[in-house]
Amino acid sequence: MPDGFYRDLVWTLRNGVLAVTRDGRIAVMNEVAYRILGLIPHPTDIGLPYSQVLRERPDVARIIAGAFDLSHLPNRAELRLKSTGKVIGYTLSQVRNPEGEITGATLFFKDLTRVEQLEERERLRDRLAALGEMAAAIAHEVKNPLAGIEVMAGILKRQLAESQDAQSILRDIIKEAKMANAIVLEVLDFVRPIRLQVERISLSDVVRDAVSMAESHVPRGDVRVEVVLPEDLAPIQGDPHQLRQLFTNLFTNAFEAMTGKGHVRLVAQQLPGEEEPTATSETHAVPMIQVEVADNGPGVPADVMDRIFSPFFTTKPQGSGLGLAIVRKIVDAHDGRIDVSAPPQGGTRFRVTLPVSGSHELFR
Ligand SMILES: Nc1ncnc2c1ncn2[C@@H]1O[C@H](COP(=O)(O)OP(=O)(O)O)[C@@H](O)[C@H]1O
Ligand SMILES: [Mg+2]
Repeated sequence: MPDGFYRDLVWTLRNGVLAVTRDGRIAVMNEVAYRILGLIPHPTDIGLPYSQVLRERPDVARIIAGAFDLSHLPNRAELRLKSTGKVIGYTLSQVRNPEGEITGATLFFKDLTRVEQLEERERLRDRLAALGEMAAAIAHEVKNPLAGIEVMAGILKRQLAESQDAQSILRDIIKEAKMANAIVLEVLDFVRPIRLQVERISLSDVVRDAVSMAESHVPRGDVRVEVVLPEDLAPIQGDPHQLRQLFTNLFTNAFEAMTGKGHVRLVAQQLPGEEEPTATSETHAVPMIQVEVADNGPGVPADVMDRIFSPFFTTKPQGSGLGLAIVRKIVDAHDGRIDVSAPPQGGTRFRVTLPVSGSHELFR
């Protein structure tokens, strides 16, 4: 076999390969290895001490250093790179000549970051499922007595029509029972597993309905709502009810944050396809639609920014803290992404990215 073939073979492998000779010099380092480690290839790297080439990746250098004195070589081990946060899965081998002497070492590795994220999502789903069963059981138990309280307070209110004091107390009891019931309904909504009823839907219908639903929850006052959807936006495969809920929750929060004046702007655009790993570990490009919902309200305080999607986190006296948790659950079910940011001009911006047709449709 010509030498050139071996070079091409190693260079184009889809795993990172890094080999060193017994005296600690780089013998092979392929393109993927550079890419995963976040280093720039220099033709002069070959032949240099690995400690020098991997100067900025000391955790990787340390693994290679172990190759010559470890009796037990790590196989399919994992490492989180300190410098980039990437997770790599690696196998370390020794190179031996026909006499059995160790002449070098190879590190064979793969970027597991994306796999890691998917697993994390899976774990979260499991945890929510367990938590959900419990919460659903409690919510069901609480629902009936609450309905009872509301009905009986209503009866009493009619019987005590003359007493002003009793009337005002009973009005409060009924109001509080209604509020508790709304929270119970939201908890049930949150814990119920989502079964997507996927259809081809137009985003403009979904958004229009979401605005009017949000208005029915919170008085909108003089808040201006602007919706910018390109004429030729592709219809997406999604669950219309769930997506309407998603945008309703975002608009509701925006209206609540602005207390009657300001503006909310929703802008959608199609993004070029993104490479997504699929069930077969091949990649294919998925066109995505990005929807931004931005308001010019007071913004989310920086110190709570990373908690707003957590269930039950709220800064409102009457809040359930489930609005954004439900939003995230719906986005996840559609294989989408969501993030929040504080634009420099103030306010809050949520950015939702949804695949035009999710893998829920293609692979499940
Ligand atoms: N548009 C927004 N502007 C400012 N703060 C927001 C906005 N949206 C969400 N938040 C913050 O995130 C928290 C969680 O929101 P959410 O999960 O919908 O629960 P809730 O609305 O019941 O408080 C809110 O209490 C609020 O502090
Ligand atoms: Mg909310």
